[in-house]
Amino acid sequence: MIVPSVNTLFTGKFLIKLNEIDSTNNYLRYWISNNAPIEGAVILAEQQTAGRGQAGTSWQSLANQNITMSLLYQPKTILAKDQFVLSAMIALSIYETLQEFLPNNEVKIKWPNDILVDQQKICGVLIENSIQGSYIQNCIIGIGLNVLQIDFENLPTATSMSLKGYQGNIETVIKRLLEIIEKNYLFLKTGKNKEIFERYHQVLLGKDQLLKFSDLSTEFMGTIQKVAPDGRLEILTDQGSRFFYHKEVVFL
Ligand code: BTN
Repeated sequence: MIVPSVNTLFTGKFLIKLNEIDSTNNYLRYWISNNAPIEGAVILAEQQTAGRGQAGTSWQSLANQNITMSLLYQPKTILAKDQFVLSAMIALSIYETLQEFLPNNEVKIKWPNDILVDQQKICGVLIENSIQGSYIQNCIIGIGLNVLQIDFENLPTATSMSLKGYQGNIETVIKRLLEIIEKNYLFLKTGKNKEIFERYHQVLLGKDQLLKFSDLSTEFMGTIQKVAPDGRLEILTDQGSRFFYHKEVVFL
């Protein structure tokens, strides 16, 4: 992999590319505990041996086929209680990037921040924040985006950009992704939480549709209303609104 030169102010200007690491999120966390943190620093890995997914799951990705990277932001003005807006901003940036490269496919965000193309998962995000007082200090944004991999033996619902017709390389996608993330991050830092949330909701899978869910004990029908600033999903059921944190509810 050639390290891409990005057209940004600071995102990806400091970039470490590793051949192999357990997890780029782990590496970045270790790195900032031993060095002065650099806003916009990016860690890229050709291969992760113990990639981590949300809620303690693992993230599988073939070597040299996909993007596995972590990015450091220090959004010191974003309140810890509003931290989901960062997650929404990242999901939206990945959404916008995929729309550019795959203009003829349906791209959606599945709450909280999975990205789907034609209802198949193409990208996962693992954000790990450290908090100081009421504010976010370091935000480690881990992104696993499937680009070239075409065989997902054990993952029947996974897909990649190549499987959806993309014919370019990984570097082009990394470059554009970092540029779009920085654009949206700078926009968010001017206090545009509401605007980011609005755009997030416009592309949210299942919004305003009557769907079947499970709260891990019973199945129920409901309509997704919105996602609260703390990240809880609001579903309107015939018993009124119910609110769920991640992994407390599944779409059936
Ligand atoms: C998920 O959908 O469960 C989130 C997956 C996040 C995977 C990425 S790959 C780069 C970064 N390093 C990790 O160990 N995980 C994230």
